[in-house]
Parts: sequence; structure tokens; C-alpha cells
Amino acid sequence: MSFNRLMTMLICSLVYTGLITQAAADPVEDRRALMKKTVLPNTKLSGGMAQGKIPFDAAKAEAAARAIANVPKKFVKLFPEDSAGDPESEAKDTVWSDMKGFLAAADKLTVSATAAADAAAKGPEAFKGAFVKMTQSCKGCHEVYRLKKEQ
Ligand code: HEC
Repeated sequence: MSFNRLMTMLICSLVYTGLITQAAADPVEDRRALMKKTVLPNTKLSGGMAQGKIPFDAAKAEAAARAIANVPKKFVKLFPEDSAGDPESEAKDTVWSDMKGFLAAADKLTVSATAAADAAAKGPEAFKGAFVKMTQSCKGCHEVYRLKKEQ
């Protein structure tokens, strides 16, 4: 076998493995992980600073809000039709029956979290106001598109 042919086979098998891994990825697990591991801790950190329980640090506050703002665009891609009604998921069927509204609710979080990130440089008061507005985006979506009550 020539070296080139060997390389081609190797690359093909790598691509193939990559595809298999992608297909096996669990969208429910992934979307829950985004909420649990990115949105929740950064909301707690921002909230702590907004409430004065954690010393306000403009750079950290901005980074936390920015991390949240980056989630919705990834999050909304993790709701394929066949993941509706998954027992592991707290997503309501309304996500699929009203995808337009769901996407709009996701956009609201992008906008409000970006506003909070931008407000951080203006100081704790400005950040606090923007943070409270951001949490309304969480509630607004959860009330319509999530089964369990806010944690
Ligand atoms: C666009 C809608 C939407 C927005 C906005 C949103 N969430 Fe969620 N969230 C969901 C849905 C849907 C689920 C359930 C996902 C699942 O179980 O499949 C969820 C789940 C969660 C969970 C549970 C994660 C787990 O499985 O343990 C937490 C915590 C959470 N969200 C926090 C937040 C916070 C905090 C915000 C605001 C900063 C927020 N969410 C904004 C839709 C949203």
C-alpha cells in the first residue's frame, strides 16, 4: 500500500470517527449542561456581585454576563424534533409547538446579558439594574418553555 493511500485511509477513519461521535452526542445533555455549567454559575456570580455579597469586580462581572450572552445561540440549536418529550429533559412541548416564541425568548437573553456585560464598566449600580432585567429573561422563558419551576 502506498504512503498516500495509507494517509487517505487514516484521515477518512478520523473523519468517520468524528462523525460518529457527533451523532452520538446527546442534545438533551448538552443543552442542560449549557444551563447548568455556564448560565447558572455565571448568574450566581453576577447575582452575588449585584447584591453586594461578592465584592464587585467590573471585569469579572462583564465576563460572567458575556459568557451568558454567548449561550442562547448554541442552546437553541440543541432542540432537534426527536428530542421532544425526552424523559431526561425539562423542556416543555411548547419549545417545538412555538419555536418562534422560543427563539425570541432566547434572543431576549442574548440582548439582556449583553446589556449587563456592557453595564459592568459603569459600576455596580448600573450592573445591578441590568442584571435584574437579565433574570427576567430567564423567568420569561422558563415560565413558558420549561417544566420545572425556577430553581
Ligand atoms: C430561551 C429560553 C431560556 C432562557 C432565556 C433561559 N433558560 Fe434556563 N432552561 C431553559 C430550558 C428549555 C431548560 C430545560 C432544558 C432541558 O431540560 O432540556 C432550562 C433549564 C435550566 C436549568 C436546569 C439545568 C439542569 O438541567 O440542571 C437552569 C439552572 C437554568 N435553566 C437557568 C437559567 C438561568 C439562570 C437563565 C437566565 C440567565 C436561563 N436559564 C435562561 C430555557 C431557557
